[in-house]
Amino acid sequence: MNRTQVVVCIGCGGVGKTTVSASLGYMLADQGYKTLVLTIDPAKRLATTLGIEGTKEITEVPGIQLKGKLYASVIDHQTVFNDFIKRASGAGADVTPIFRNKLYQQMSTTLSGSQEFTALEKLYSAYESGDYDWIVLDTPPSKHAIDFLNAPQKLSALFNDSVAKWFRTSEGGGLFSQIISTGTRQVIQILESLTGSEFVKELRLFFSYIHAWQDKLENRIVEVHKLLVSPNTRFLLVSSLDEVKMTEALNLGQEVRKQGYLLTKIIINKSQFEKTFDFNIGPEHATSQESFKQLDQFKDTFEGFIRHREELLHKFENSVSDKIDLVSLKEYLDPISDTDSLKLIAFDLSQKIKL
Ligand SMILES: Nc1ncnc2c1ncn2[C@@H]1O[C@H](COP(=O)(O)OP(=O)(O)O)[C@@H](O)[C@H]1O
Ligand SMILES: [Mg+2]
Repeated sequence: MNRTQVVVCIGCGGVGKTTVSASLGYMLADQGYKTLVLTIDPAKRLATTLGIEGTKEITEVPGIQLKGKLYASVIDHQTVFNDFIKRASGAGADVTPIFRNKLYQQMSTTLSGSQEFTALEKLYSAYESGDYDWIVLDTPPSKHAIDFLNAPQKLSALFNDSVAKWFRTSEGGGLFSQIISTGTRQVIQILESLTGSEFVKELRLFFSYIHAWQDKLENRIVEVHKLLVSPNTRFLLVSSLDEVKMTEALNLGQEVRKQGYLLTKIIINKSQFEKTFDFNIGPEHATSQESFKQLDQFKDTFEGFIRHREELLHKFENSVSDKIDLVSLKEYLDPISDTDSLKLIAFDLSQKIKL
């Protein structure tokens, strides 16, 4: 029985998924767990802090003293896809021609859904290893965050679609050979004369590979899905305190739950201030009557801003089911990229979240 627990951080772009993932990893490692954070496109300084800048390997985060252990890795889509193909092709298979195939190089990481697939693939292989108590998965910045959930199926459908079938060549007369024998040869010839025979050859080869991986890919998607809906996995939705992002977050949250995933917490990032402000400024601080008036106006505006944020927060609270905890996180003045700032958020999280 695999004891590894998984947290998947989802949400729209820019809300703080990568930051929260790294901080959560820090928190769990500091609670004594062996923790792995799988990040996607972390900012350069954060990657340096985590010790994963310029490497695709899983690395122990350097320079911190924790009760447990913290590991991190950047998900490199091409590497993960290649690893998957190596395994799917079986031990001893020569995968060099596949990796050299121009279409494979182009399409393996740009096909719709393939980055989401590689993120989940990396999660699954780390999970399968049984090496960690906790794995925290950051998710790719997709335009519509909900795409993350459906992407692997979409990729599989694409692998399985009619274009692939059309080009597929199989022994004993697959579609491709049928087409050839029923006069489509001319079409292919025209295509070859237009684009160069190399292109068609590569295309045909590419689709024949795809055919070979289809079953493996589908099996993997089923396994990954089982993990995602298992009690070992919880989703953590991250949002910021702004009307548009909140609406998207609420829709995403509903969809996630509808699809049977465990979501009990929403983090509203940057919704509290790091410092409190003291506006009890006496006349002695103002250099003139005029500047005193300006300060007063600023105070009014600022208080209006705070009220607006409080209203948004209430609206949020009223819109989610009471089965979901809303967790407000502070907005820090400095960027969250060094160990100290991660530690700060991790501490803030540990006061508010029990996974
Ligand atoms: N609580 C916070 N306080 C201050 N800055 C934050 C906080 N959370 C995130 N940030 C900053 O916001 C930016 C976007 O965060 P990031 O985690 O990369 O978002 P995402 O992964 O959702 O795109 C980064 O520069 C990060 O340092
Ligand atoms: Mg990110």
